[in-house]
Amino acid sequence: MRILCHDLEPLPPTIEAVADPPTEGGEGPGERTVRDRLYGSPRPAPDGRPWVLANMVAGLDGSLAVDGKVGELSSAVDRRLFVHLRGLSDAVMVGAGTARAEGYGPVRLPPLVREQRQRAGRPPTPPLVVVSRSLELDPAAPMFAGPVRPIVLTAGAAPGDRRAALAEVADVVVAGEDRVDLGTALAELHARDVDVLLTEGGPTLLAELVDDDLLDELCMTLAPVLGGDPFTMAVGGGARRLARYALASAAEADGELYLRYVRRTFS
Ligand SMILES: NC(=O)c1ccc[n+]([C@@H]2O[C@H](COP(=O)([O-])OP(=O)(O)OC[C@H]3O[C@@H](n4cnc5c(N)ncnc54)[C@H](OP(=O)(O)O)[C@@H]3O)[C@@H](O)[C@H]2O)c1
Repeated sequence: MRILCHDLEPLPPTIEAVADPPTEGGEGPGERTVRDRLYGSPRPAPDGRPWVLANMVAGLDGSLAVDGKVGELSSAVDRRLFVHLRGLSDAVMVGAGTARAEGYGPVRLPPLVREQRQRAGRPPTPPLVVVSRSLELDPAAPMFAGPVRPIVLTAGAAPGDRRAALAEVADVVVAGEDRVDLGTALAELHARDVDVLLTEGGPTLLAELVDDDLLDELCMTLAPVLGGDPFTMAVGGGARRLARYALASAAEADGELYLRYVRRTFS
């Protein structure tokens, strides 16, 4: 893995020669070093809500899935980055569409990462947060069976019987009447000590975060493939305004680009 650009500090254009300690994860030379340096920048929580960071993978045509699932777009390096970003976060949020399509399980981190988090005074594993109005979520699904109690963000209009069933296995938080008001929901998560919120999509939820001006950072893997399903990064949003982002870093491995964009703020 090599760095193409990084605007936060001067670095050599490539640090492929930096040898990381051996791991069982099959990391290429320098991969962990690159990840630590590029993705370790501060993420200060804005007033009253967490810093919101999205991690997505797309093909060259912007496609987000192949036959309804992310799997074929993702590489081993991308999957390690996925875990790394989870390790940096205080909670991992997904829309119910993604949780259903991907058969989400609870968040799992490697023992070393859990230990590092605990040494830093943080919970070893971040909770999963699922956003749903319909609450068409099976309480017996694997995502509700992990060691950390998940959070379900829903609206007042959600069916009461499903709400009661899910309350057995998750903290059900009502934020908004007809749909989840993401500003209210994020404030609620912040009150639960979530300073860095990772969202893993999907496109409907991401579009709403952009529309509500709540997306601080996008970590995007651009996979060198064409021909996936015909839907892209953010769908269904009202596109009320264009949100602008600045490139914070770019790295490459095997033709795949790892781009990190941070929201541009104008004074
Ligand atoms: N390439 C990638 O990085 C990536 C990442 C994630 C997902 N994906 C793909 O994206 C597809 C899923 O797309 P999607 O748009 O359905 O996913 P999504 O954004 O995860 O889910 C949409 C659902 O989330 C809930 N939701 C979102 N905003 C809400 C709000 N404000 N209030 C209440 N509920 C809200 C609703 O659930 P209810 O219907 O339960 O009310 C809605 O139907 C899958 O094929 C998946 O593989 C790709």
